[in-house]
Amino acid sequence: MCGIVGYIGDKNGIDIVVKGLQRLEYRGYDSAGVAGISAGKIQIVKKNGRVDVLRQTVEDVKFSSHVGIGHTRWATHGEPSDINAHPHISHKGKVAIVHNGIIENYLSLKKELQKKGKVFLSETDSEVIAHLLEEVLENSAGDMIAALQIVQRTLVGAFAVVILSVDEPNLIYAIKKGTPLVLGIGKGENFLASDGTPLVQYTKSVIYIGDGEILRLSANDFQIYNSDIQEISHATSVLEMEMSMIEKDGYAHFMLKEIYEQPKTILDSMRGRIAADMSEVKLGGINNYAPQLYNANRYLFLACGTSYHAGMVARYVFEQLCRVSCEVDVASEFRYRKPVIHAGDAIFAISQSGETADTIVAIEEAKHHGANIFGICNVVGSTISRVSHEGAYTHAGVEIGVASTKAFTAQLTVLYLFALKIAQSKGTLTPAQIKQYCSELHAIPDQVSEILALSPQILEISKSLKDIHSMLFLGRGVQFPIALEGALKMKEITYIHAEGYAAGEMKHGPIALIDEFVPTVIIAIKDSNYLKVLSNIKEIKARKGKVIAIVNKGDDDIKGIADFCIEIPETSELLAPLLTTIPLQLLAYHTANVRGCDIDKPRNLAKSVTVE
Ligand code: F6R
Repeated sequence: MCGIVGYIGDKNGIDIVVKGLQRLEYRGYDSAGVAGISAGKIQIVKKNGRVDVLRQTVEDVKFSSHVGIGHTRWATHGEPSDINAHPHISHKGKVAIVHNGIIENYLSLKKELQKKGKVFLSETDSEVIAHLLEEVLENSAGDMIAALQIVQRTLVGAFAVVILSVDEPNLIYAIKKGTPLVLGIGKGENFLASDGTPLVQYTKSVIYIGDGEILRLSANDFQIYNSDIQEISHATSVLEMEMSMIEKDGYAHFMLKEIYEQPKTILDSMRGRIAADMSEVKLGGINNYAPQLYNANRYLFLACGTSYHAGMVARYVFEQLCRVSCEVDVASEFRYRKPVIHAGDAIFAISQSGETADTIVAIEEAKHHGANIFGICNVVGSTISRVSHEGAYTHAGVEIGVASTKAFTAQLTVLYLFALKIAQSKGTLTPAQIKQYCSELHAIPDQVSEILALSPQILEISKSLKDIHSMLFLGRGVQFPIALEGALKMKEITYIHAEGYAAGEMKHGPIALIDEFVPTVIIAIKDSNYLKVLSNIKEIKARKGKVIAIVNKGDDDIKGIADFCIEIPETSELLAPLLTTIPLQLLAYHTANVRGCDIDKPRNLAKSVTVE
């Protein structure tokens, strides 16, 4: 969703900010803009469409300023347009702001400000911040920190706001609540951004601004104040990111690069967490809450989208390996169904970005009822990792592709490790079984490499999907969530209507869809559901449906019936999602490519969904 960049130093801040916005494009956006100060005035250029259009315009007008703030906007209040794009400027042109988040009380504030004669140009909630700040500044004798304290307290909702003031051209200010903002510390120059990607090129020394804090930034210095305007100090962190992680490295798309990274990222997520002799799992991140984790009467998995599918897989795995009752919930629904939460329930909050608003709200609800929260996040220092009691990072590296791939398999890996650790502690698995699972997990990265080598065959299958409008994805047992994930990947980047279903449910409704124009992808590996899935394939074929089957190597029975078979290696039933998901990612990728879709920037989607 929206992204923010700020710069102050001796270079042309506009160039640096626009480059930073290009780094943030992966978050999803529809318009972009930049503001700087030149000739004693705030100047703004903002454009509907791609950052490249903005870049061209600022080059054409030779826009230059030693200080700059910029924004990519993902429309919520008001359509994508030049006017609604950020930055927004105050009535008298004193301040310009960029905002990431949502101001929930903007309507009442807007009415009050309009009564006082402020003229609003846009339909956004964000513009209210500029007018409000200018008004409060006038009443605070120009004391920006005092004014920001009042503004921060007045705004309801989530926000990271970065501010330029015409009266203080050598400073940038920022406030934050609930939406991420990172300060990058340079030499004679400083930076601000929504995440580390615009910063890594310049500095690895960062500070994550906390909720309720106020930042004053100059080229050589910065001060951070708490909500009572006392100056506070923050330790700097090292940005765990390399330039190679945010570049395509010769791949046509970030998504493809990330699919191919999985042998390494799966290994990275288990690195140091499995004993060399495979006899035990070690999870450093749960030292203080280990008893609460092992002795919980119930495990609950909360997440959205792909991360929710990881939670669904985990439910099958935890129930079988740990013999404890488990539930999984879409985070956006959790709070609103007034869930029964017992003090001591162990909640796994799963999130690649660690910034998903729905998941954060669900965590707040669970915490309120005394549950212990274990965060499984990819982005280090993210909000969910900080609001969780304990947890584990997935260590998949930066995921730029909007369609999540390597983060999903990293989440699965970490969830398997949690399940094994708990089973080990409860004694629900024997030492020999633990060893067997650890060894099989360890073999997964090589098996993933084997599946990646099938890419040319999967490309050929994709060509048969080029013009179809609708398809089904079926799986049973622990493969049911993988069918859902396969369908999600397909719909988000190809725009083909793809429905994921439990294979056993097919005859209860979706079978009505099947004909020669609606192909079915079915996970039919040799697990405990194999024979039932085989029957499902026959039912589809009897109705002239095309079948693309994911099977184990050498499965001649299904080869004789299905239209296409993708043969993958064997592992134990519960670990197989780590393998079956790979061909589905490639199938979605290649199908999107043959259909000419913009794979890394799928329409309407945002990488990090920071609004409810
Ligand atoms: C799908 C996808 C989304 C995210 C969802 C949750 O490919 O990426 O469905 O999985 O928005 O995001 P995180 O994991 O960041 O909480």
